Amino acid sequence: TVALNTAAKAAGKLYFGTATDNPELTDKAYATLLNNTMMFGQLTPGNTMKWYATEPEKNVFNFTGGDQIVALAKATGKIIRGHNLIWHNQLPDWVTNGSWTPETLAPVIETHVRTEASHYAGKMYSWDVINEPLYDNGTMRANVFYQTLDSSYISIALRAAHAADPKAKLYINDYNLESTGPKIDAMVHLVKNLLAAGVPIHGIGFQGHFILGEVYPSQLQTNMERITALSLEVAVTELDIRIKLPATDADLEQQKADYMSVVQTCVAVSKCVGVTVWDYTDRHSWIPSFFPGYGEACPWDVNLVRKPAYDGIAMAF
Ligand code: XIL
Repeated sequence: TVALNTAAKAAGKLYFGTATDNPELTDKAYATLLNNTMMFGQLTPGNTMKWYATEPEKNVFNFTGGDQIVALAKATGKIIRGHNLIWHNQLPDWVTNGSWTPETLAPVIETHVRTEASHYAGKMYSWDVINEPLYDNGTMRANVFYQTLDSSYISIALRAAHAADPKAKLYINDYNLESTGPKIDAMVHLVKNLLAAGVPIHGIGFQGHFILGEVYPSQLQTNMERITALSLEVAVTELDIRIKLPATDADLEQQKADYMSVVQTCVAVSKCVGVTVWDYTDRHSWIPSFFPGYGEACPWDVNLVRKPAYDGIAMAF
């Protein structure tokens, strides 16, 4: 079978990519496949560009981990989705537990976004400027940013990112946008408001953390097309499909079908630019520790052997 980035490009997409994380790079067999440009044309750093890693103390910046991913991507011919600038998780305590006013928090957001986006200016395909701003019921997540600044934190961050790195595509990224309902309705509404206000916004990321058998491709396509109708691009940014353990052979066949239908949907939506898996192998997946009892969510198994899901992806491109 054909390698997945090669297949994605042949299908008119920009990339097939994967998340990775700095500690995994010492795993030689893992790194060897990761480096293969025909297999992966894009990387997302799994952790080391997040706020807790990049500005652990106020105005103390550390880009060591992110720089390592950027260097690896450059050496192996891959583009990068920067992930992420503003999120309620993996924030340092000084942000989460600060006693903020709009006047004190806005410049903290601007400094964080400007400093990180400037450091990487010209090196990023895109930035997840805002990660997970919505609850599943479509209301705005009451994170420290929203509680202090209302939804203005979103435009503050997007404008700061655009000023720092005018060529990067600026995304809002979220989960559970894949099925119809209040969350995608709220995202469409948010995008319309940002566009009407002249705020730079270029894409919406559909994370794609699915449960086996719960992929609804026609809903996913409808939702992507609601976003692309607003002249934004979309991407599947964190795809994995978790299985309740132990996984049976039938489960792995269902997983193949599920991966295939997600990738087919991205292929069917011309402004869906690419698909990123949230790490390519079960050996380094976040799923078992975050969803106890679930696992085997990735297209390669713990031994780096291709699963049926791999063929599903290859066939869909
Ligand atoms: C996860 C990482 O994979 C883990 O290593 C970390 O402990 C927690 O975060 N949505 C996101 C990603 O946007 O940043 C998350 O990554 C997975 C869910």
